[in-house]
Amino acid sequence: MSHSRHTCAQVVLLRLCFLTCLLTVTLVVGDEPQGNDNQSNDKWLEPARSRLMHVIGGMPFFPHRANTPGNLVLNAKDFDNAQVCGACHTEIYKQWRTSMMSQAWDEPIYRALLKRASTATEGKVDNFCTGCHTPIGLTTGQINSQVNRSSIEDSAKNHPMPGVDCETCHNISARTGLDNGAYVLSPRANGKPTKFGPRKDAVSPYHDTVYSALHTRSDFCGTCHNVTHPFSSVAVERTYDEWQESAYSFNNVTCQSCHMPGFAGKAAIMGPDREAVASHWFSGANAMMLQHLGQEEGAQRARNMLARAAEIKFEQLPAAIIPGQYTSVAVKVANVGAGHKLPTGFPEGREMWIDFRVLDASGRELYRLGSIKDGKTENDTRNFKVHIGDKDGNPLDVEVWNATQILSDNRILPKGYDIGEFSFLVPADAVGPLTLTAELNYWPFSQKLADYLLGKDKVQVEITQMAKVTQSVPLSPITASRP
Ligand code: HEC
Ligand code: HEC
Ligand code: HEC
Ligand code: HEC
Ligand code: HEC
Repeated sequence: MSHSRHTCAQVVLLRLCFLTCLLTVTLVVGDEPQGNDNQSNDKWLEPARSRLMHVIGGMPFFPHRANTPGNLVLNAKDFDNAQVCGACHTEIYKQWRTSMMSQAWDEPIYRALLKRASTATEGKVDNFCTGCHTPIGLTTGQINSQVNRSSIEDSAKNHPMPGVDCETCHNISARTGLDNGAYVLSPRANGKPTKFGPRKDAVSPYHDTVYSALHTRSDFCGTCHNVTHPFSSVAVERTYDEWQESAYSFNNVTCQSCHMPGFAGKAAIMGPDREAVASHWFSGANAMMLQHLGQEEGAQRARNMLARAAEIKFEQLPAAIIPGQYTSVAVKVANVGAGHKLPTGFPEGREMWIDFRVLDASGRELYRLGSIKDGKTENDTRNFKVHIGDKDGNPLDVEVWNATQILSDNRILPKGYDIGEFSFLVPADAVGPLTLTAELNYWPFSQKLADYLLGKDKVQVEITQMAKVTQSVPLSPITASRP
């Protein structure tokens, strides 16, 4: 499409066309179950596909669900670099800069997987991935397979595009669904740069401001934090749905409550002092990648989030352990701080597990389950993870584009817990007392996956300890009689 000047008649036609599109969108949206209030379990197995898919032009960036006014490709010049916003929004800019979302396009694990996904599907998923990892890149028409398969250095030089930046979130004027990036990006809603935000009284010399209730709610985040396979409909990521079905949503504790807590200060340098300005740290769990990207402070914030998410403890340990015999101990892990499953998100990678050890008083290791072998948690580790599979039921560690089913999912529900048993033999010559330790660990992806995607030992995947419990148990003076 050319961007030449239009005649009067053309402008009228375009406006009509725009109105019709809007009407179609409204009608279709009206017909869709809103707010995900369908409480049946079906959606975990077969989430609804976009109904807009069947409307001509309804999904201009198919298979991604992004929409724009009139569903036209946007003009890159309508978007400012985040640094421009940062000139006035200094605190907010500094915070956002240390987050994963600011690097969603330029981070190596994403780009390595994108390159493989693009090649393996002959470009069918190019729009899909980029609509969430560089929404402006997609909607301004800068994305093609060549860009998606280029190196980070190459694209930074020849096709610089932002990740999830200020302009992405603050130009979202509405949503048309609850997954796969069903946002509407409207940079010049009133013919001028317009920013949608949470305040009714915000006045800026640089841009129009429009109050947006959407920005204060979780369904704003839900557009991107629910990922559905665009062709097989598998629920790849479901962070929003997990929250929506939890006690947090009933008590109005939103994504923003935990991920954008208020700080006292200014939202803009020339703006008023406010008691609670929404912070933009967006701290999550990926300490490993933030550390790798040189975001020391962001990494530490992620570790703090992980530490407040879970508790681990022993359930009713025996008063004494009998040497020469098998002993069982139960370990309880509770999700006390995360408003969604623990862990949530990226299914190929996110894993939490218990590293359980028994030492005797001489320092001898009598038992351990949960160590790392060949870059993975060892077999039978008590881990919490979702496993996706292909049509033949084979587990998929990398090729998520072939996913047609969820094989298993034992992640811990919000405010939920899990109790698991460990059984071990205490040798007759063990020296008492025994020290039992259970560590709860997390990594965003295994060393094996990182090695596979980036090359052997290119990065060292950090194991973050979330919680730990240690207890000493005496040995019983009675030794089990030999059978
Ligand atoms: C020349 C300074 C300046 C620049 C540059 C600037 N803003 Fe603002 N912006 C302000 C001021 C002042 C406010 C009002 C702050 C307040 O009331 O607390 C504001 C408010 C906002 C709000 C809140 C709106 C609401 O209704 O809640 C958003 C969102 C926003 N700006 C986004 C941006 C983005 C995105 C950019 C970059 C494209 C940007 N701003 C660039 C000065 C600026
Ligand atoms: C009650 C507080 C709370 C609420 C509500 C909450 N979160 Fe979280 N979130 C956490 C904590 C704590 C962590 C770190 C532990 C973990 O990974 O779950 C986290 C982690 C995350 C992660 C990183 C997970 C990973 O392993 O990669 C994402 C993404 C995320 N949250 C998004 C959201 C979204 C989107 C919402 C709303 C739908 C939301 N959160 C609601 C507390 C919360
Ligand atoms: C992932 C989406 C996202 C990104 C990226 C983002 N914001 Fe926001 N921003 C929000 C949401 C959501 C709120 C409202 C939070 C609330 O009300 O609890 C908000 C609030 C604001 C406010 C009003 C704060 C207040 O409490 O008065 C300003 C100003 C703002 N953002 C500017 C920016 C700037 C500048 C950037 C880039 C440096 C940015 N935002 C990046 C989602 C985002
Ligand atoms: C336009 C799409 C989009 C929107 C809207 C969005 N996110 Fe994200 N978010 C992403 C992507 C993509 C990533 C992953 C970046 C990466 O790791 O490459 C991400 C990552 C995150 C992380 C870091 C996860 C980690 O592993 O540490 C948190 C926390 C998070 N988002 C919270 C939010 C919250 C809260 C909101 C709503 C206020 C929100 N996001 C809205 C796309 C989005
Ligand atoms: C609907 C939005 C959406 C789409 C579409 C999407 N992603 Fe993501 N992606 C996210 C969010 C949100 C996260 C962060 C979740 C978390 O922290 O666990 C993420 C995380 C990731 C990560 C983990 C990054 C890290 O550093 O740990 C990779 C890799 C990734 N995505 C690759 C892809 C690829 C490849 C595609 C296309 C096949 C794709 N994504 C499509 C939203 C999306």
